[in-house]
Amino acid sequence: MSMRYKLLGRTGLRVSALCLGAMIFGDTRGGWGVSKDEAARIVERFAEAGGNFVDTANYYARGESECIVGELIAPERERWVLSTKYTLTMRPDDPNGGGAHRKSLVQSLEASLRRLGTDYIDLLWVHIWDAFTPVDEVVRALDDVVSAGKVLYVGISDTPAWIVSQAVTLADLRGWTRFAGLQVPYSLVERSVERELLPMAQALELTVTAWSPLGGGLLTGRYGSDRDRPDDTRIAAFGESQLSVRNLAIADAVNAVAAERGVSSAQVAIAWVRAQQARSVIVPVLGARRREQLQDNLGALELELTAEELARLEEVSRIELGFPHDFDAGRLAYGNTRPLIDNHRHPTAHTYTRPASLAPSEEQAMTETKPVAEQKQTITPHLVVRDAAAASKWYQRALGAEERGRVPVPGGRFMQIELRFGDSTVMIADEFPELGVVSPLSLGGTVGALAIHTDDVDAIWQRAVEAGAEVSLPLREVFWGDRHGEIFDPFGHRWALAQRLRDVPAEEITAAAAAMFGGEPA
Ligand SMILES: NC(=O)c1ccc[n+]([C@@H]2O[C@H](COP(=O)([O-])OP(=O)(O)OC[C@H]3O[C@@H](n4cnc5c(N)ncnc54)[C@H](OP(=O)(O)O)[C@@H]3O)[C@@H](O)[C@H]2O)c1
Repeated sequence: MSMRYKLLGRTGLRVSALCLGAMIFGDTRGGWGVSKDEAARIVERFAEAGGNFVDTANYYARGESECIVGELIAPERERWVLSTKYTLTMRPDDPNGGGAHRKSLVQSLEASLRRLGTDYIDLLWVHIWDAFTPVDEVVRALDDVVSAGKVLYVGISDTPAWIVSQAVTLADLRGWTRFAGLQVPYSLVERSVERELLPMAQALELTVTAWSPLGGGLLTGRYGSDRDRPDDTRIAAFGESQLSVRNLAIADAVNAVAAERGVSSAQVAIAWVRAQQARSVIVPVLGARRREQLQDNLGALELELTAEELARLEEVSRIELGFPHDFDAGRLAYGNTRPLIDNHRHPTAHTYTRPASLAPSEEQAMTETKPVAEQKQTITPHLVVRDAAAASKWYQRALGAEERGRVPVPGGRFMQIELRFGDSTVMIADEFPELGVVSPLSLGGTVGALAIHTDDVDAIWQRAVEAGAEVSLPLREVFWGDRHGEIFDPFGHRWALAQRLRDVPAEEITAAAAAMFGGEPA
């Protein structure tokens, strides 16, 4: 597959869909760095593959990385999108040796230009946030180096979302250069940026460059709970704290998918990052110690993970989003209508109950006619009951549902319980009269209906009736092979059980319709 390109943030600049990280170029510590000769082989291979986007920093290998990158890209300087960073200190005993302020910026930029042997930087990153410098000083100083022609575009790395939002808003209001990119760690073992940073990047149109997409070497097949630990890696040198039970389980899942697909673990891990484009525009920053590693990693361009593989990786690596994401605003603000509303601006907003592995467009599929295998995954009904824990028990016992998680609220009560029912997800929530969230039953009103779609309608129906559910409409064939019934659970909720057979051959549907309505099939 040939390299594709993305537009950087709200600009017209084209950057390759993979970026080359040069952090360990010239690092002579411990044998896990990259010599100049090896860097030349790596850069050559990346350029051959169509890569044009390279990432370094003043700080990497104490300036040596910039020297190597500058020399290697010099013959084709204009073709490269050269990015480097400032703010990390090069003089630890000098209070102005680092930081995000204007003096640090000017000094650092001049030194980077000298090391890189160029008179402009394509993309200059604020490397990490310096809480001492006012946001307006940083944004204005960056705008000045852009006006001076020394920097073409600016980005920000490793900074809280609220500060980035403030900076972009300020730049927009004042007509200053706005950030075009956000650089953050993102991989199957580091997903915390999904809480605030990725949604922010999507809303503000910042391209995300994802660093350590392999968790620094953890997701490369060299690690796993069933494997001996290597002693010649960067992780062995100083990252063994990453080898938690959770991270090794994630590595195991990556290794299993890789073995089944006949590809490398690194390709699976990078392909997963690339598959998250619904969250934001994401460009993984590839780290490689050898040309052969880079060659392997480039194979991720050709790997598209299946929905089933993505679901397995999601399962093992999922994180709790925490407040306010888990505070079910989707239900409080939209009632039962959230899945019916297409939000082109923030497709994933307020969809807490939708499994994150599903693309936003799949939610819209609820309103379309689809085969049951697709349709059933998209339905996420809600029950509001006096005691969610009791209802959960009944659903587990009666219907074989599996409890997947509880979202506690302050004061120790459980607000919401997630149940898996076959491939459907059902949310059961406690009543919260103080928030106006009460079951229609307690108000003496109409009982809410809950639809569960399943492939095994008869077995589920029988179990529910045996467990004390009251039949309101008996299970029957409704139309063209659809089977449908309605039941009251012991909590007074009416729910519909449906088996849709959309994949029935057209002739059978025609014959069934003819039998139901009389007349001859057309
Ligand atoms: N903005 C920031 O704060 C920040 C922070 C960190 C990094 N970055 C950027 O992100 C880039 C990538 O970070 P990273 O190096 O941590 O990325 P990574 O892709 O997670 O890890 C790269 C390491 O994994 C191992 N590896 C890579 N490909 C492999 C393969 N195919 N098979 C086996 N092992 C393989 C190599 O280490 P071993 O052989 O030693 O295991 C390699 O050095 C950096 O170069 C830098 O540009 C930015």
